[in-house]
Amino acid sequence: MTVSAAPVNRLANSRLEIHGGHRLSGELRVSGAKNSALVLMAACLLSRDTLRLRNVPPLTDITAMGEILAALGVRVTRSGEVIDLDGETISAAAPPYELVNSLRASFFCIGPLLARMGMAQVPLPGGCQIGSRPVVEHVKGLKALGAQVTIEHGVVTAVVPGPQRRLRGGHIHLDCPSVGATETLMMAAALADGVTTIENAAQEPEVIDLADLLVAMGARIRGAGTPTIHIDGVATLHGADYAVIPDRIEAGTFLLAAAITRSPLYVAPLIPEHLGAVLTKLEEVGCRLEHDGVGLQITPERLRGVDLRTQPFPGFPTDLQAPFMSLLATAEGTSLVVENIFENRLQHVAELQRMGASIRLQGNTACIEGVARLSGAPVQGTDLRASAAMVLAGLAAEGTTTVRGLEFLDRGYADLEGKLNRVGARIERIGDDA
Ligand code: EPZ
Repeated sequence: MTVSAAPVNRLANSRLEIHGGHRLSGELRVSGAKNSALVLMAACLLSRDTLRLRNVPPLTDITAMGEILAALGVRVTRSGEVIDLDGETISAAAPPYELVNSLRASFFCIGPLLARMGMAQVPLPGGCQIGSRPVVEHVKGLKALGAQVTIEHGVVTAVVPGPQRRLRGGHIHLDCPSVGATETLMMAAALADGVTTIENAAQEPEVIDLADLLVAMGARIRGAGTPTIHIDGVATLHGADYAVIPDRIEAGTFLLAAAITRSPLYVAPLIPEHLGAVLTKLEEVGCRLEHDGVGLQITPERLRGVDLRTQPFPGFPTDLQAPFMSLLATAEGTSLVVENIFENRLQHVAELQRMGASIRLQGNTACIEGVARLSGAPVQGTDLRASAAMVLAGLAAEGTTTVRGLEFLDRGYADLEGKLNRVGARIERIGDDA
């Protein structure tokens, strides 16, 4: 089965027409986390039993991951936000190139395939609009667990030598707290023979979510969410019935929709600890926040510029840098935004400038002077979060904004325009896939 190219082409011809200047009111419901669901789906390869995942967001990336797992022999059945993944008979250890090429997250399969089958062949994920996206740390860590790894003709081949073909526990120190590397190595180590420690591990909530799922499957893991994770390998893992955490980046995007339109909104579900740095910045910029144990009420007051720099968790998340910059373009005063995680994640600056934003770019730093009103214009989303940033800017702009790049937007936001229209926005999807 291949991911049909048609939807992506259709999306490339589609656009959102946003009529700006409308106040919003009501409640925005947050879906399950894309960046958790994708790796949790790959974990099904670790067990012969069925893994049931709940609160799975209806996104094109999730569909693509399901097709990649099906190509490996996993029986995938989906009913709304529930996905059953039966990994009893994995037929091949090499997901087809054209599938992998459509979804970088397919590289998550290499760790569990290697742990379960003693070998794995996965095409090397390419770079993308925001950066080169290397997998050096992933490969280094798999070697530390006893795998022989070669990269030829764009394919990563990993084999566990010896009659057992079983990975062995080892000590890994990551050069950088890579989310994907931490998750890949946690899955591989879960079935290794012996204890593994991962130092300088990523601490993102999605890493904790994966660890919680693996423990529910019988793994022995402690320290997820801290810089050092200990995994005591077990022989087999059983199935589980597990709910994905809420998407903190979608939640943050909704909070920014409230702030940029100066509208009080209720966003739920939302776990405050997952967005600490973002909530701090929203208060600093001039929003009042009240959490009721399930969701967050945001009330924007007089907004003024703030400085922010992206960092690994618990620092400010790079995935909300572009959406937050749209807000800063309309806040009084000067803001400095520094992108420290990805080497090319400031392409939305040029698009915001087309809408009248006053921004000066110097390397990975943007200096923003807030303006009273942005003006609607045709703009292009250059990656998933930049596309979301353009939608937010369109909500606040005078006149109509046309946003292209829905092939990126739909990867990370389920029915964004539908959710925003239900709280008072006026957005129309136009084109082949409308
Ligand atoms: C995950 O990507 C997320 N994707 C990204 O979300 C997110 O932006 C990123 O983490 C950072 O939080 C998923 O979870 C599917 P990294 P990942 O490895 O794992 C460098 C979105 O918009 N690095 O933590 O690929 C790398 O170049 C997406 O939802 C190395 O140098 O991110 C980057 O600069 C975009 N060597 C930085 O680390 C390596 O071996 C962070 O990368 C690996 C990474």
